[in-house]
Amino acid sequence: VKSIAVLTSGGDSQGMNAALRAVVRSALYNGLDVYGVQRGYQGLINDDLFKMDLRSVGDIIQRGGTILQTARCKEFMTPEGQQRGADVLRARGIDGLVVIGGDGSYQGANKLSKLGIKTMGLPGTIDNDIPFTDFTIGFDTAVSIVVDAINKIRDTMSSHERSSVVEVMGRHCGDIALYAGLASGAETIIVPEVPIDMAEVSERMESNFAKGKRHSIVVVAEGAGRGEDVAREITKGCGLEPRVTVLGHIQRGGTPTAIDRILASRLGDFAVHQLMAGESGKACGIIRGELVTTDIDTVVHSKKPFNMEMYNLALRLSQ
Ligand code: F6P
Repeated sequence: VKSIAVLTSGGDSQGMNAALRAVVRSALYNGLDVYGVQRGYQGLINDDLFKMDLRSVGDIIQRGGTILQTARCKEFMTPEGQQRGADVLRARGIDGLVVIGGDGSYQGANKLSKLGIKTMGLPGTIDNDIPFTDFTIGFDTAVSIVVDAINKIRDTMSSHERSSVVEVMGRHCGDIALYAGLASGAETIIVPEVPIDMAEVSERMESNFAKGKRHSIVVVAEGAGRGEDVAREITKGCGLEPRVTVLGHIQRGGTPTAIDRILASRLGDFAVHQLMAGESGKACGIIRGELVTTDIDTVVHSKKPFNMEMYNLALRLSQ
């Protein structure tokens, strides 16, 4: 491999810039040429590439978002779009591509790999929904943002002896709700992976208030339902009138935590080394602290297991 390209695709996440910096600097350190692709797969189709140097990624390790811009590209879901992407890379003599993104981006990388392009996927999403990695880049920051928000909500709920429903992101995955719920001492965590009995939730809230609790926080993952609907069910069940907060895109912005920057830096460098070693069609991840690769085809056809042990712990501790 002599020349590689890098792109960010799908929803952005904090730490994408840190990953990009690592890919670019590691490639240059090892004597490779490196090209940035603007706006994800759309930019690839449009041949919107530019050569990057050491300074292209200066002053970005601490920035949220992605300096390459990102997009969700429908055209790249078609065989014609994928072929065009592969042709653009070949015409420029680029041998390898690092894709930083979530599951949709991995599907694109998988297709390119089948068209003979050497691809490496880096898990860049706040959702933590990529299998074969314990964590994705951006997840730690998103969880920290949610915990910080719940701390604030709890202050005012406590003063007024109120309950609150906080809706968080995660698409079909409950990890943001689970981790943030455990870290913030939420009373109930509602996730798509675990069925829940709303009558039981209401009963528990009512009895906890009766036992002297001064506030009650319910965290609901967007994949399990809407905050407004959960609040309505609670009112129906026990008469409480929870206030609803939908945190939305605030979870995807801001400066990445040190954990995300370190993960991004390690994975970015690892991806370059994998390409240099001739690997292709792999997703890079971290399992029990070790950097690993898994066939991207396996990753896109698997579902991340849910951590029931942590879910049950959160439930036991939030009495
Ligand atoms: O995948 C990241 C994510 O933020 C999800 O948690 C959420 O469901 C989705 O993207 C929101 O997408 P958009 O920014 O396109 O509204």
